[in-house]
Amino acid sequence: MNASKIIIDTDPAIGIPGTDADDPIAIMLALRDPRLELMAITTVFGNCPPLLGARCASRILQVAGRSDIPVAAGMATPMGGTLPALLQQAYAGPRGRKGSIALPEADASHCGLHASELIIDLVRKHPGEITLVCIGAQSNLALALVKAPDIAPLIKQVVMMAGALGLDATWGRGNITPVAECNIWFDPQAADIVFRSGIPLSMVSLDVTNAAAGLVLTREHLQDIAENTPLTALFKQVCATYFDAPMFDWSEGCVLYDPLAVAVAADATVGTFEEMAIGIETAGRLTLGQTVPLRDAPPNVRVCTGIDGRKVVSDIVSTITG
Ligand code: RIB
Ligand code: CA
Repeated sequence: MNASKIIIDTDPAIGIPGTDADDPIAIMLALRDPRLELMAITTVFGNCPPLLGARCASRILQVAGRSDIPVAAGMATPMGGTLPALLQQAYAGPRGRKGSIALPEADASHCGLHASELIIDLVRKHPGEITLVCIGAQSNLALALVKAPDIAPLIKQVVMMAGALGLDATWGRGNITPVAECNIWFDPQAADIVFRSGIPLSMVSLDVTNAAAGLVLTREHLQDIAENTPLTALFKQVCATYFDAPMFDWSEGCVLYDPLAVAVAADATVGTFEEMAIGIETAGRLTLGQTVPLRDAPPNVRVCTGIDGRKVVSDIVSTITG
């Protein structure tokens, strides 16, 4: 069987304190899973600025011996043009610069195309074949859809880590505001374009990417793993940075939000799914970025409602390090 072609649109940071480790882990998983063919990595603002993210992605590809895979830097702000104040402050500090892991220079880290252009090019070259795995703000894909509306029916599917629906009463309530998850809240206009695009969408939300579902990587998972390949050594280094300086401290360990989206792209039976109609709140003063289940509307998203998180974590670790 042919491997599924994917583009990962991401906000990856490696070795940078206070950033999430799940984007680089998602990239490593995609590189190591034989059911996936990683066609490109495109970067967006989020954990760090997109050019710094491109340098981080490029470093992962170098270490994996896959510098043939193109990297393109994309949107540095949401579609509205203003970076949220909390990210402006974060980028003025450690999240705006290289951390403990050596990175290629900016010019050597990306292909020169804007992320949206690379998405458009690859989708047109491979009509009906590309899965977009969106694990950051959805600004690059939304811009691609605005620039080239013809690509929407050519995209096989989007698998996203995004949103919070309140299906899990404790965890499904938002992480950046009481009701919004950050990948949506960072650019609600972009998410609104994607959710109304007609592209087949699958969504892993905070309702399943949480400690209660068992989707947490801890030091114990890594303690007996030998650093017998450069990628395994980098994986352990990335995790160590996170364990020492986590973005969130509400669970002991690293929640594998984004790797679950890659795992779903490889094999959707990793979870159970329900069809739902979901809209994006783009104007709410208190509810901006909320993913709202709609009544009396046709379904537009397959929502992951259940996973065996412990098994997913152990499968991800063994795929990356095996
Ligand atoms: O809300 C979780 C998302 O934001 C993930 O994509 C993770 O990388 C975090 O930064
Ligand atoms: Ca992410």
